[in-house]
Amino acid sequence: MKPTPATDIHFYPPDQYPKKHQIRVGTLDLLRDETHPTCLWHNGHLTHDWVELCGDAPDVTCGLLLKEGAIIPGSGRYIGVNRDPDIIRRNSQAYAGDTTQWVHADILHLLSDLDNPTLHNVGVLVFDAFYSPSNLEQDAILTPVLTFARSQYERLGQFLLVINQAMRGTRSVSLAAARTRFAQSIQEYCGIDHIPDSAFITYRSRNANMRILRLSFGW
Ligand SMILES: C[S@@+](CC[C@H](N)C(=O)[O-])C[C@H]1O[C@@H](n2cnc3c(N)ncnc32)[C@H](O)[C@@H]1O
Repeated sequence: MKPTPATDIHFYPPDQYPKKHQIRVGTLDLLRDETHPTCLWHNGHLTHDWVELCGDAPDVTCGLLLKEGAIIPGSGRYIGVNRDPDIIRRNSQAYAGDTTQWVHADILHLLSDLDNPTLHNVGVLVFDAFYSPSNLEQDAILTPVLTFARSQYERLGQFLLVINQAMRGTRSVSLAAARTRFAQSIQEYCGIDHIPDSAFITYRSRNANMRILRLSFGW
C-alpha cells in the first residue's frame, strides 16, 4: 500500500458530507430492517462487531452507532482501525469503554491474519478508504477483504461487507479498466455473470464520484 497521501481526508462531519452520512445511516438501516432480518442484529443492537477504517476523532460512524443504541455493553462493538497512531489515540480518548476498540494497524495486514482473535467476532466490515478499489491496487485490497468476509461468514453464519469505491483511474489504469476489473473480481467471487448497476449506490463526495457496494452474506 502507498503511504497515506497528503491529500487524504480523515474527518467527514455530516454537515459537510451529508451524502456520506446517509450511507452510514443506510448501512445501519439495512441491519435493522425488520423485513429482512439478520442474526447480526437483535433487539436493537449489533450482535457482532462492526469494523471500519475510522476517521479522525470523534469518529462519526462510532458516534452514530452509540447514539442509535446499536452498540451497548454486552453487544457487538465498534472496532476502528487506522494506520495513523494519533487518530487512534484521539479516538481512544474520545470514546473510552467496552463498546469500542481502537486499533493502530494497516487494515489489510490485520484482515490477512485470519487467526488473529481481534477480528473473530466481526460481522460487519466497512472498507472505506480514499484509495479504494478503483485502481491498480484493487487486487491487493480486494483479495484480503473478500477472503476475510468469506471466512467470517463461515464462522458466524452471516456477514455484511460494505465497499466504498472512489471512481478514479490512475495514470496507468483508466477508470474504465478499473471498473471492469472490479466487476470481474466481484462476479467471480459471488459466482454471478453480471452485477446490475442498481446494486451500486453512487454519490458525489467533495472531490470525487463514489460508489458503494453492499454484499450481504447468508441473508
Ligand atoms: C475515508 S477515511 C474513513 C472515514 C470514516 N469511515 C467515516 O465514515 O467517517 C479512511 C481513513 O483510513 C485511513 N486508511 C486508508 N487505508 C488504510 C489502511 N489500509 N489501513 C489503515 N488505515 C487506512 C486513511 O488514512 C483515513 O484516515
